[in-house]
Amino acid sequence: MIKKQFQISPSILSSDFANLQREIEAIEKAGADYIHVDVMDGHFVPNLTIGAPVVEALKRVSKIPLDCHLMISNPEKYISDFAKAGANIITVHFEVSGANQTPELLARQIKSHGCRAGISIKPQTKASEIFSMLKHFDLVLVMSVEPGFSGQKFMPECAEKLTELRQEIDKQNLSCLLEIDGGVNLETAKQCRDADILVAGHAVFRASSYRDAIKALKEQK
Ligand code: DX5
Ligand code: ZN
Repeated sequence: MIKKQFQISPSILSSDFANLQREIEAIEKAGADYIHVDVMDGHFVPNLTIGAPVVEALKRVSKIPLDCHLMISNPEKYISDFAKAGANIITVHFEVSGANQTPELLARQIKSHGCRAGISIKPQTKASEIFSMLKHFDLVLVMSVEPGFSGQKFMPECAEKLTELRQEIDKQNLSCLLEIDGGVNLETAKQCRDADILVAGHAVFRASSYRDAIKALKEQK
């Protein structure tokens, strides 16, 4: 039996922004499966990062899918910008949803642009809170740090949600991918075996060899 490996989505937030094209080409060559793009608005999270024009530039130099994690309030206003810029996966946070922007509506909006739709939960949100909406999404992103910054410490209690979500996805006979984000490294990846995709910022971009770092992470499953 061939053992399944993790897929790796390096977070470019930890990369060298003065050399983005070179960084993208390097992680692609090193075996990355996706490029994780952390979009922050200084409102939903206390940090500002990347907007749609940068995603458009990344698209011109990348061959693998852009995995865009929107840590922003009112994502409905920006989904079309990110889709037009070339995002392949657009993930919104469950915590931003309200009466006029339910997760189901956000998923529908994302899919109307031909993108895959993801939903993310912060550390304080229980996995069970999103069980009823899993069917609308292609991907679930479990945050294992408080969103806002790379290089934080992994919260092991968040990894337990992967097991709960995996059981629920199987129970509902769905095919959503499970992704975990925040503080993932060779040690903490071992606690994430129910995930399909690992996001890794520091664990890839601070390593001396991107290829060795990605290969070792893949093999932790
Ligand atoms: C945090 C971001 C993460 C982060 C990952 O808000 O969503 O993607 O950049 O970086 P590391 O792996 O260094 O925690
Ligand atoms: Zn992220």
